Amino acid sequence: MKIARTIEEFRALRRELPGPVGLFPTLGALHEGHLALIERARGENASVVTSLFVNPTQFGPNEDFSLYPRDEERDCRLFREAGVNLVFVPSLEEMYPAGFDVTVRVGGVTERLEGERRPGHFDGVATIVAKIFTVTQPDRAYFGEKDGQQLLVIRKLVRDLNLPVEIVACPTVRDPDGLALSSRNAYLSPEEREQALSLSRGLRLATKAFADGERGADALRRIARREIEAQSLSDIDYVALADAETLAEVEGEVTRPALLLVAVRFGKTRLIDNARLTVD
Ligand code: PAF
Repeated sequence: MKIARTIEEFRALRRELPGPVGLFPTLGALHEGHLALIERARGENASVVTSLFVNPTQFGPNEDFSLYPRDEERDCRLFREAGVNLVFVPSLEEMYPAGFDVTVRVGGVTERLEGERRPGHFDGVATIVAKIFTVTQPDRAYFGEKDGQQLLVIRKLVRDLNLPVEIVACPTVRDPDGLALSSRNAYLSPEEREQALSLSRGLRLATKAFADGERGADALRRIARREIEAQSLSDIDYVALADAETLAEVEGEVTRPALLLVAVRFGKTRLIDNARLTVD
């Protein structure tokens, strides 16, 4: 596995890789969920490249940018063991040199939920992902469904800018007890972690009710909310049931594919999760 720290270095090494090339961009702090995506990328491409960059522009002023877990040596070892061919590890100055002054802003799907609560977050994501695509020139790029809204933002970015990359959505990887894997789970106390299981439980109960025929959006939101609210340490940011394409909130009955999305704080840690409701 080779490590490139500059765009020039990356491009030279990228030219030698046999295609198709699969990309998995990351903020680091790798866990099993990341490794599952890399494995999928390896199965579908001749070469796999990753990026490791804690992107400051997608963190808000009161978020965890400075605290975000950084361990390049560990992440690169895991990349190597997972069979990655080439990693892009740029410095802050390499990605945002003095005078950098472009923002890629995706409209529509960024307006609610995470976009509303985290102003500027998706501008930061869209800008860095557009840059990483430009540098790495992948045939396919892999993103987890856990960040459901981010996935919609990236699909729209690629469609509207005609970027020549196929976006591959990968199912959320969960611990055996249901907790969606996230680098932020490391911040949870044992009690918070136990109570955080209510996210996946609430989503599962609502999905089951949907499968059993419940179509009322309010009823489905209520089922998930009730489960999470019952936890003494939970502080619900939102429980939303939104159109799976536009992210508009569903009123009345669910008649098109929808996403049930939750964001909940346990102490200082904010967790998100979602489930897809598909109408036959
Ligand atoms: O999902 C993430 O880890 C990040 O938002 C991404 C896509 C690597 C951009 O920094």
